[in-house]
Amino acid sequence: MPQKIKLALIYGSAREGRFCDTVVDWAATEIRGHQQFDIRLIDPRELASNRADVTRRLGEADAFIVVTPEYNHGYTADLKALIDAHSKEWQAKPLAFVSYGGISGGLRAVEQLRLVFAELHVVAIRDTVSFAFASRRFDASGALIEPRDARKAMSLLLARLQWWAITLREARTNSPFLEVAA
Ligand SMILES: Cc1cc2nc3c(=O)[nH]c(=O)nc-3n(C[C@H](O)[C@H](O)[C@H](O)COP(=O)(O)O)c2cc1C
Repeated sequence: MPQKIKLALIYGSAREGRFCDTVVDWAATEIRGHQQFDIRLIDPRELASNRADVTRRLGEADAFIVVTPEYNHGYTADLKALIDAHSKEWQAKPLAFVSYGGISGGLRAVEQLRLVFAELHVVAIRDTVSFAFASRRFDASGALIEPRDARKAMSLLLARLQWWAITLREARTNSPFLEVAA
């Protein structure tokens, strides 16, 4: 059995009453159905009180999934603070997005985040799962009302993320990621 992939599943909203909980719970359930991943949750709410542990968990991760909403065509300040508080923890690792929001399903926030993560030497993969008008897509128990397409997209996202995670883990093991002093 190959070594499990340590996957950091990251909340993109820290708002009280956030819908993010519903989407993260859905994503975590889907990921647990794929035995090769070992999930650790990362919440921007933890940054103030538990920063060293957040840093440790990000540093140990082989791959990331960011679950992001969209506010005024962008991502949240809380997510940006979490991103900016770290640097080498992100480097030379793959990342995928699960997004949600109103009409755009969070995709404009995702496109902005791709620029941010490029600066941190993250490989942000193409595959994305997106929920437009997200609050209408889940029932009161947090279950997707029509799960088929999202589950299929998530399965492909995870398969591709796994490929990158294994490939880049081997690469980082064989040769340390090149850092050049500024
Ligand atoms: C001030 C504000 C701006 C928003 N802007 C957008 C937007 O630009 N695009 C979009 O798709 N949804 C937008 N939304 C909808 C949010 O993405 C949606 O409410 C989402 O659930 C917020 O995530 P959270 O509840 O986890 O914090 C906006 C919501 C608010 C309150």
